[in-house]
Order: sequence, then structure tokens, then C-alpha cells
Amino acid sequence: MAAALTPTHEDKFSFGMWTVGWTARDPFGDPTRTPLDPLEAVAQLASLGAWGITFHDDDLVPFGSSPAERDAIIDRFKKQLADHGMTVPMITTNLFTHPVFKDGGFTSNDRNVRRYALRKVLRNIELAGDLGARTFVLWGGREGSEYDQAKDVQAALDRYAEGMNLLTEFVIERGYDLRFAIEPKPNEPRGDILLPTIGHAIAFISRLEHPELVGVNPEVGHEQMAGMNFAGGIAQAMWQGKLFHIDLNGQRGIKYDQDLVFGHGDLINAFSLVDLLEFGGVSGAPAYTGPRHFDFKPSRTEDYTGVWQSAAANMRMYLLLKERAASFRADPEVHEALALARVAELREPTLAAGETAATLMADRSAFEDFDVDTAGARGYGFVRLNQLAIEHLLGAR
Ligand code: GCO
Ligand code: MN
Ligand code: MN
Repeated sequence: MAAALTPTHEDKFSFGMWTVGWTARDPFGDPTRTPLDPLEAVAQLASLGAWGITFHDDDLVPFGSSPAERDAIIDRFKKQLADHGMTVPMITTNLFTHPVFKDGGFTSNDRNVRRYALRKVLRNIELAGDLGARTFVLWGGREGSEYDQAKDVQAALDRYAEGMNLLTEFVIERGYDLRFAIEPKPNEPRGDILLPTIGHAIAFISRLEHPELVGVNPEVGHEQMAGMNFAGGIAQAMWQGKLFHIDLNGQRGIKYDQDLVFGHGDLINAFSLVDLLEFGGVSGAPAYTGPRHFDFKPSRTEDYTGVWQSAAANMRMYLLLKERAASFRADPEVHEALALARVAELREPTLAAGETAATLMADRSAFEDFDVDTAGARGYGFVRLNQLAIEHLLGAR
């Protein structure tokens, strides 16, 4: 394997324990795989070249374990991490599996459930602090409803914000170096989920008491389930300083959450995404430096050989796309096409330094003398630029 395609710790590849550990139970069928020991997950992922493993509280410590059992499990896990040189960059809480959460955690109509959910998360934040995780993801899969009359959305957002404010206050008080990342999803398992897209989540965060501690964890498939352009959404999250974490996987169009291997869905958008994450905006905005986290599901047809092949495929797809994006960026013909498409001109402010509405209105060249017909007739050459991108993606250049 070419060196550039061999994952190293510098690539910051991480996997959810629940991804390789999914036993493939679905709404229509029983599991097709036996449960995976978390210690085995650490060993296997480390041997494939991953840098980190992430988990929900219940992935590691079964729901309902006694405090003594919990401590013993965590100690064994820490030793395994150390033995395999693996880190835990992110932790998350399961507020969706147990029937108690059937109407949500932070936004359940039942106040006692909300208090229980907050306690479950606070306990898990202590574990995140203990393991040195830097990001705490909140995926509110059950925070939503099927029926408009059943959920007062404005009250639910008040309760969501109340919960987030408590968590940020707690992290500040304890002095943890930990930030929160909200993971949007439009639907599934609820008919409609609160904070369904990157945009909804960022708007919500702006109303919190400590917005600086809260960002987003967008997932490829979740935005694509809503017909959104994922790379475009990520660009806005970066622009807003909110891309705290990312869930990489594959999705083919607007349907159920497929959780395919990264790049096995919309490959062209995956190329644009890796190009953006690795090399920044085409005309200069900075790159992403956080974990490259895979949240996929090894298909139900696979045995454990297939599970580890799928895990490896995520990293290989990412590295292949990175290599293709580097070749796109280095091609002189691409530079020429970018210039003809005037991509860099968009970085130039529309107004001159110190210009106001009054000076703009006094500038005849901007309006009265501006030749709209000539400007309207000129082509931008975007199709040629896209063709060049796809030729690099296909390895034709
Ligand atoms: C999903 C979500 C989850 C979350 C996970 C971390 O659609 O099931 O993507 O996998 O990412 O719960 O919070
Ligand atoms: Mn998903
Ligand atoms: Mn996810």
C-alpha cells in the first residue's frame, strides 16, 4: 500500500464503538453478528491505524451496571487504551435506547425524565473529564415528535437550552477542557427531530448562555437525508467557527439513514468535503484540524471479516480522496480554470475601504455606466472547472 494511503495517528481517524460494534439488529430482523467486546474494538481499530475510539456511556458500561462494576469496566478499558496507544477524543451519552427516553431526554414532556436525562449526562461528563476527551457530542435522536400537537416546540427549545446551559456551567465550574457538539438530524427515529439541520443547530446555539462552548457535529448522511449539500453546510459551520467535530459516512439520497462507508454514497460531494477539510477554501479559508470521526454501520450482510474491511475502507476512502484533492489543487489547468471562473475575486470586498452607501450611490460606474449586457453575456466556465475536479476524482488526471 502506498505510504499516503496507510492511516497514521496524524490523520486523526476515530470510530464510534457503536459502529463496528453494531450487531445489525434492524426494525425487520434479528442481529446477524455476535456482540463485540469493547476491548477487542480498541485492539482491532488500533491495528488498522485508527487514532481514537469514541463511545456512548452504555456502549462501554451496560445500562444499569452497579458503581463497582462501572469502575472495574472503566479501569480495564483505560489499560487497553494505553496498551494500544489509542485515545478517546470524544464521548457521548445514550438518551435514546431505553424506553424511558421514548419521548426524549432533555425535551421529554415528562419533567422527571428530563431530570434523569440531565443526571445521566452529568455523570458522563465526569467520565469525559477523567478520560481527557475534548469534545462531548449530543445527538438528540429522540428529542422530537411525530405529531405537531404533541410537542410544544418553543417550550422544548427552552428546555433544550436550559439543559445546555446547565452542562456548560458544570464544565466551567469543574474546569474541564471540554466543548459540546450538537449533532443535527432531520428524522429517524422520531418522525421529526428538533434541530434538524446544521443551520437550525447554529441558530439555537447563538441563544445559549455560553455559545463559545457549543458547536456542531454534522453527519454526512443526516444533511443528505434532508437534501442538503454537506460540503456547503460544513463550509458554513467553519465560517461560523462551529465545526467542533464531524461524523463521516455515506448516504445515497433522500431516504432512511444508511450509514454507509464514507465515500460509498455521494462520492462527488465527499471529494469536495475532503478537499475543504484538508486544504481549506479554494481561495484561502483555513482547513479543519479536528478528529476525522467515522459514524458508519457495517452492513447487515457482513460478518466480522467484513466489519474490519468496512472500517479500513472508511480510512482508505478518506486518504484516496485526500490524494485526489491534492492532485486537483496542484494542477496548473485547475488554477487557470479557477481564475477564469473568478473564484478568488469573491474574496475581494464589494466596497472599497471607507466606502458608504452614499459614495456607492455617487459612483456612476457602479450603476448608470455599468454595462449590464456585457457582464450578463460573459460565461463563468464553472462546468469546465467541475469537469476538471471530476477528472481528478476519477484518476483521469
Ligand atoms: C444516528 C447518529 C448516532 C450519533 C451517536 C453519537 O443517526 O444514529 O448518527 O450514531 O452520532 O449517537 O451521539
Ligand atoms: Mn446516522
Ligand atoms: Mn452520527
